[in-house]
Amino acid sequence: MIPDTRPMIEWIRDNREAGLTGAEIGVNHGLNAEYIRNTLKVVVLYLVDAVDYGINGLMVGYSNDIVKKFQDGWLDFVYIDANHQYEYVLEDIKLWTPKVKKGGVIGGHDYHSSAGVKQAVNEVYKDFYQEKEDWWVIKNG
Ligand SMILES: C[S@@+](CC[C@H](N)C(=O)[O-])C[C@H]1O[C@@H](n2cnc3c(N)ncnc32)[C@H](O)[C@@H]1O
Repeated sequence: MIPDTRPMIEWIRDNREAGLTGAEIGVNHGLNAEYIRNTLKVVVLYLVDAVDYGINGLMVGYSNDIVKKFQDGWLDFVYIDANHQYEYVLEDIKLWTPKVKKGGVIGGHDYHSSAGVKQAVNEVYKDFYQEKEDWWVIKNG
């Protein structure tokens, strides 16, 4: 199956140098992880999911627990696509944002198709990129 294109990932490809370290939170069977790898020349792509899908290197556990393994300012981008309920999206944004370096990208999927995602993103950010189902911001602090 070919995944739909993800505008946040294309934006990173077009606006950042290769050699990035990123994370996808909520991986499922790895369709978008493959898309990220094919689109960006990542050095490391951390994959986090609560369910063990048998993907090589998958960090199995809840997002709010796995996040503790990461140093602050470590990631060039994080793609949030785990639990889409408002409280969880809010929590993922708050917990993963410190893990991204200044100038890095924080975003995720299902902005239109999930009311919880839209509510959380709208609440946290005044300005953000939004295209198709992706939303993203550049970390400036
Ligand atoms: C929409 S799917 C991810 C799809 C994938 N990003 C893609 O585009 O191909 C959501 C995934 O998030 C995982 N998930 C849900 N809640 C989670 C949590 N609290 N922590 C980690 N993973 C979670 C689910 O097991 C599921 O595999």
